[in-house]
Amino acid sequence: MNKDIHILAIETSCDETSMAIVKNGREVEALTIATQMETHASFGGVVPEIASRMHTESITLVLEETLKKFSGKIEDIDAIAVTYAPGLLGSLLVGVECAKTLSLVYNKPLIAVNHTMGHIYANNIEYEITYPTLALIVSGGHTDMLILKNETEMEVLGSTMDDAVGEVYDKVARVLNLPYPGGPKIEKMALEGKDTYELPKPMNDDSYNFSYSGLKSYIINLVHNERQRNHGIRVADLACSFQKTAVEELTRKVGLALKNTQIKNMILAGGVSANKYLREEMAKTCAEAGATFHVPNILYCTDNAAMIGCAAYPLFKAQKFADFTLNAKSSENIKKYIEDSQK
Ligand code: KG4
Ligand code: ZN
Repeated sequence: MNKDIHILAIETSCDETSMAIVKNGREVEALTIATQMETHASFGGVVPEIASRMHTESITLVLEETLKKFSGKIEDIDAIAVTYAPGLLGSLLVGVECAKTLSLVYNKPLIAVNHTMGHIYANNIEYEITYPTLALIVSGGHTDMLILKNETEMEVLGSTMDDAVGEVYDKVARVLNLPYPGGPKIEKMALEGKDTYELPKPMNDDSYNFSYSGLKSYIINLVHNERQRNHGIRVADLACSFQKTAVEELTRKVGLALKNTQIKNMILAGGVSANKYLREEMAKTCAEAGATFHVPNILYCTDNAAMIGCAAYPLFKAQKFADFTLNAKSSENIKKYIEDSQK
């Protein structure tokens, strides 16, 4: 009989201190997320130094809380997984050092997980990923389109050439004086507005790459110019037009990729995939292309350790363990990561 595999996962790449225990790469047995969002909101964005200090303060409490929720004991855990890249260096280091310590003390193998892979594998929690599938990861740091050929083989089709779509949500929100994190606020405002602003289409081409910095700069300049002239900005309308323009480019390129590759499954992931408008529009695009569409439960879209436990499972099965030289990395090119991991 195959033994169940329990992975204790740690995620501290940005402003959430999170730990989870995940069974067989899919069942979340325990999950704790301590968010620092309110602290950073008063500064209008994440302050790296404060983030790492807060991770240090809360990590042992998060571990204690997670173990309380677990029916077994820490000795029953089969491996310790941790996000080592990409993210804020000081924040990542807190998680990495905690994982190494647990691995050493309890003599458990250590698994190094790339954060983007975590977002992708969050789709395995309530649905089992069907291969091959197209995957779009949209977060504060990423806008990547991939083909997942099977559990271990994947290929990057395209990425953002500049800003990630989540980052632009946050910057547009900031110029409109909406609090951090901007994504959910823009989503809410957009519901109250109408698409009345004409905005430039981001990277209106047929590649699988994205470019959002032009749209971001256009909106920031528009707001500043209108304010200088004492003209009012219709915040809800601008939020609506921005969201429509940003999402249209994502769905258009996914539609193109589904048509060209003839792949019949599509998954969405990352913090921005919590956005209902994007979820609805992407579902329509996939239906038109005759492809299935899945996106994680909203809880698992933004940063959490459960997704890290899911992404660690294929690495556990392949016995791809890290040693104690494991270090945090603030950036990691997804294309290079995939090429290296498939060697
Ligand atoms: O995945 P995530 O939690 O952290 C990163 O890995 O970056 O994503 C955070 C990003 C932020 O830019 C945030 O504004 C955005 O996801 N986000 C949203 C929504 N919820 C979070 N963007 C649009 N609509 C949302 N509902
Ligand atoms: Zn993330």
